[in-house]
Amino acid sequence: MENREPIGVFDSGVGGISLLRELVKIMPNENYLYLGDSQNAPYGTKSLEEVRRLTLENVDILLSHGAKAVVVACNTATSAAVAILRKKFPDLPLVGIEPAIKPAVLYKQNSRVVVMATPMTLRQEKFQKLMKQYEDQARIVPLPCPGLMEFVERGELEGERLKTYLEKLFRPVRKEPIDSIVLGCTHYPFAKKMIEETVGHEVAIFDGGNGTAREMRRRLMVAGKLTKSEKKGTVSFLNSRDTEEERELCEFLFAQK
Ligand code: DGL
Repeated sequence: MENREPIGVFDSGVGGISLLRELVKIMPNENYLYLGDSQNAPYGTKSLEEVRRLTLENVDILLSHGAKAVVVACNTATSAAVAILRKKFPDLPLVGIEPAIKPAVLYKQNSRVVVMATPMTLRQEKFQKLMKQYEDQARIVPLPCPGLMEFVERGELEGERLKTYLEKLFRPVRKEPIDSIVLGCTHYPFAKKMIEETVGHEVAIFDGGNGTAREMRRRLMVAGKLTKSEKKGTVSFLNSRDTEEERELCEFLFAQK
């Protein structure tokens, strides 16, 4: 048994490709099937029920393609539905992603940490609890970013429009110094360069991609499902917006540095 079935990875759109890249970096011999639901994106401004329904549909699609494990490469879907998924699929190696507050808090004592995420992620109990946990060690400032994931969905990773958007977004939170930023949505690492230009290179930036990838590797190991193959694996893309442009965008983002 070589365990060559793919690891299924999904997001509301193309953002989860930032996490897919981390998975491939540490488990290059695995096969991957990436599902983006760009047709229904964004999730972050939808109702909880809708995000739960779409999330369950995405997992069903990945399983119908033979996925041996599932990565919820979307902070929004994780906050809305990961508990439901764990109940429904108790034997499936499954990991979700959440804003990487811990490394940001540990980075510097008593610092001011800005957490960028979708309005839904920041509203959910999961995030509220996470924030409470670190409340006495740092000043955590949630920054909802409606509209930011759409730039990445268009493949617009730089330029005047994005710059103007970010400047306006950060204006209120920049009145006091920022020590670090947490990218709490998988689309945002693709805008990292522009975020750095906006807030200054001295601000440390964290995201949960690498930690989540390592957690998936650990789960697969425990389940005895890591591939035994010594050949480099494959990466395939599926998208609910089934167009040539969308496929090209996926390849473009996957090739980003
Ligand atoms: N990439 C997603 C996340 O990590 C969601 C963006 C959205 O659909 O609003 O939260």
